[in-house]
Amino acid sequence: MADTPVTSYDLSLRPPAFSEFCGQEKVKERLLLMVEAAKMRGDVLDHVLLSGPPGLGKTTLANIIANAVGHRLHTTSGPQIEKAGDLAGILTNVEKGDVLFIDEIHRLHPAIEEYLYPAMEDFRLDIIIDQGPNARSIQLNLPKFTLVGATTRAGMLTGPLRSRFGLVNRLDYYSVDELCQILHRSAGLLDIELEHGGAVGIARRSRGTPRVANALLRWVRDYAQVKADGRITDSVAEAALGMIDIDEDGLDEMDKRLLETMIYKFNGGPVGLASLAVAVGEDESTIEDVHEPFLIMQGYIKRTPRGREAMPAAYRKIGAIPASGQAELPL
Ligand SMILES: Nc1ncnc2c1ncn2[C@@H]1O[C@H](COP(=O)(O)OP(=O)(O)OP(=O)(O)O)[C@@H](O)[C@H]1O
Ligand SMILES: [Mg+2]
Repeated sequence: MADTPVTSYDLSLRPPAFSEFCGQEKVKERLLLMVEAAKMRGDVLDHVLLSGPPGLGKTTLANIIANAVGHRLHTTSGPQIEKAGDLAGILTNVEKGDVLFIDEIHRLHPAIEEYLYPAMEDFRLDIIIDQGPNARSIQLNLPKFTLVGATTRAGMLTGPLRSRFGLVNRLDYYSVDELCQILHRSAGLLDIELEHGGAVGIARRSRGTPRVANALLRWVRDYAQVKADGRITDSVAEAALGMIDIDEDGLDEMDKRLLETMIYKFNGGPVGLASLAVAVGEDESTIEDVHEPFLIMQGYIKRTPRGREAMPAAYRKIGAIPASGQAELPL
């Protein structure tokens, strides 16, 4: 997401090559194959779409793709392109083989999307200048480039835009093992003494997300320095994460507030996103992009056409008894 702050810490830990990018094996395999095939043909890489919740590595992969094809990366995002002229400005700087990364591509203005279609398909930009009777179209021929689009909401992409990508690469949440590998790599780069038990403790509470894992690692490092001898053991990790209210399943305060609100205020649901957002005092899109996918994946809530519903796991998590009519809780 554009509003997620990217710290220098984030940048220094960003793997520069596929070989250092842990997990997402299927996506990696496909991208490597595409890069190899394009190189064999001496051709420019096809456009690539990356989708998935925040912090799973979309921006990182865009950088890796540009490194792998050996060309420059130009970065922009959907909301940043306000007029056709903005797009023309970016595209006229692109050289053959370069990668144009459009983050949050689902937030592109529909009129800009129309300009993007011929640019993606025929490497041509038809721009209308002037208005009314003086309006005329000028055509710019573009070098062949690769568009890498990233989105947290593949479902919000229009059909025509999505179809111009050919292949949608969905990033999934990482396993505890994969997160452990990422944590050990980060600890190595930051010179942190991280025991395996400590890594597992952090990985389990990282919501399957590398960005969260790296952020928690930094907090636990601080804790270990002040409260222990600097080494991150399992007990140090547990104490440090307990202090910032992250529970053993990685749920933070907002996750728990969402579950409690659904159960106590809305009787378990179904409840609409807008009402839920007002009740917990959080932005709708943050709930939809950040909290909800994880809670659904973990089986705490489900989405139905009538709204969000709390599942038995949610009742167990907050120690509530389901109202009558709810399914019996399995033990
Ligand atoms: N597979 C991975 N291996 C190692 N580190 C990773 C991996 N994926 C992500 N990271 C780390 O997590 C951080 C967040 O990744 P990134 O910024 O690419 O996420 P994103 O999907 O673009 O998120 P957003 O949707 O918020 O833009 C990176 O700085 C990087 O250090
Ligand atoms: Mg990103």
